[in-house]
Amino acid sequence: MTSNRGKLAEFRSALAPLGIEITHSEEECDEIQADSLREVVLSCLDQLKGKGMRDIVIDDSGLFVHALNGFPGVYSSYALRTIGMDGILRLLDGKQDRSAHFECCIGASIGGEEFTVSGRCDGTIALAPSGEEGFGFDPIFVPSGYYRTFAEISITEKNGISHRGRAIQAFAAELRGRIDEAPR
Ligand code: IMP
Repeated sequence: MTSNRGKLAEFRSALAPLGIEITHSEEECDEIQADSLREVVLSCLDQLKGKGMRDIVIDDSGLFVHALNGFPGVYSSYALRTIGMDGILRLLDGKQDRSAHFECCIGASIGGEEFTVSGRCDGTIALAPSGEEGFGFDPIFVPSGYYRTFAEISITEKNGISHRGRAIQAFAAELRGRIDEAPR
């Protein structure tokens, strides 16, 4: 799988009980312009298969701000690098609706079968950044039912409710189902 170490640890702890081992790969794919994370993930799986890779797991996430029609969404890493959290806060200046959600899509191509699952975490955009934990837009995202941002709660607590945590649980459940159904 691609991407950072924190994610790898999270995937490993969810998949180890299934006897599935996962390793990190530096292989990159070009991010296409698309409306949904699923399209980005399916394109990336195709590109990696085209490079001869087999048994691949990848994920892509984004922050979807409702008053901005879902922006930055699939462009979240680009938006973070360019306008940053302050840019998002400025775009929301004077807007009543500060609701948003994070979404994570996981795609896999395993033993010739391809599938995707997703996870979502709803919340609101804070008035100002707060907290030191986590990464990305964590300091401005307050998950529903909380009064603290993702950057003010522990990683374990975040993993329990986050879009990625939920997508990883859905992924583990999907794999468990496929293992149980496989002919012996
Ligand atoms: P990735 O696909 O997980 O690398 O995420 C793409 C971009 O979405 C990141 O660069 C962040 O800007 C944002 N993002 C995704 N997940 C999170 C999260 O859990 N917290 C904060 N920002 C996130």
